[in-house]
Amino acid sequence: MSHFADEALAGVLPTLSETLTEVTQAHFDEFIAAARQLIAGAGSLQDLQQQRVTLTGKKSALTTWSKQLGKLEAEDKKSYGASLHEVRSAIQDALTEQQQALEVAALQAKLDAERIDITLPARGSDKGRLHPITMTTQRMQQFFVQAGFNVATGPEVEHDYYNFEALNIPSHHPARAMHDTFYFDAHYLLRTHTSPVQIRTMEAGEPPIRIICPGRVYRCDSDQTHSPMFHQLEGLMVSKSSTFAELKGLISEFLEAFFGKSLTVRFRPSFFPFTEPSAEVDILADNGKWLEVMGCGMVHPQVLKNCGIDPEEYTGFAFGMGIERFAMLYYGIDDLRLFFQNDVRFLKQFS
Ligand code: DAH
Repeated sequence: MSHFADEALAGVLPTLSETLTEVTQAHFDEFIAAARQLIAGAGSLQDLQQQRVTLTGKKSALTTWSKQLGKLEAEDKKSYGASLHEVRSAIQDALTEQQQALEVAALQAKLDAERIDITLPARGSDKGRLHPITMTTQRMQQFFVQAGFNVATGPEVEHDYYNFEALNIPSHHPARAMHDTFYFDAHYLLRTHTSPVQIRTMEAGEPPIRIICPGRVYRCDSDQTHSPMFHQLEGLMVSKSSTFAELKGLISEFLEAFFGKSLTVRFRPSFFPFTEPSAEVDILADNGKWLEVMGCGMVHPQVLKNCGIDPEEYTGFAFGMGIERFAMLYYGIDDLRLFFQNDVRFLKQFS
């Protein structure tokens, strides 16, 4: 009775001796055959690793026998050494062969599982696109850039000097109240319009000046046609010869270019603290109603002075409009909030 760990070889092992010199060549052959059978039965790489330990590990018959080799006489050492070598290489070969077979089978199974059915219809791809507000801004910008205007930008967190003071907006003006404007502290706020960029531009450079400024603005306001954040496009022209007639021509041309049709445009007298005279621009809609689309006017002499520009020498005109309003009119949208809910079903409709 042997005490080898090779339980799986139980059928063969009881007849094998733990003492090397008692094992016959026939036994070795029988052992090899049984080991091959065991290895061939390994169904997975994990199984095979188990058999490898069983057949060649510390407690295996092979190891037990091999340890005895050193104590044998030269003659026996030679013949048993050769037998054990034969057993060991037979097992190694069988293990390697089975490992390769299992690897090939595993790869084939993976390939079968991942087979691509090229006859299936394609899933299609969803391309990203620009937001309607971005597209509208670009359409507006395109006209003015072609007319020679540069695109300027300014900070969205603005000092009240630029947002109000320099624009001639007095401290009692309702726009300056806490309930209309987002303040950070006594002086810093989220700009309520793009007009402060006029001041920053005039402060920084000499006329002639010809800029537009698209950007985000913020007000405490939220309903179907107002959102706490929205976009404006500001325009400013300062030169020795800027006139209201030039402003009218430019704006009329812009409106027709933007809407792609001839329009009836009206300049209605209005008031802004930073322009004099000031006007609201209306266009006549198909239903016979006037639609207000922007504010404009001649830059107030005090505003020019605030920026170090001599109003005796220079004149300027300015205009400001809401980009959402233009997008709503252009695309026929009646709820401004749709632009900011980012519902893909809505956004997908613009290209
Ligand atoms: N800043 C004004 C607003 O937010 C719009 C505006 C009106 C801008 C007239 C101008 C202008 O430059 O001349 O309501």
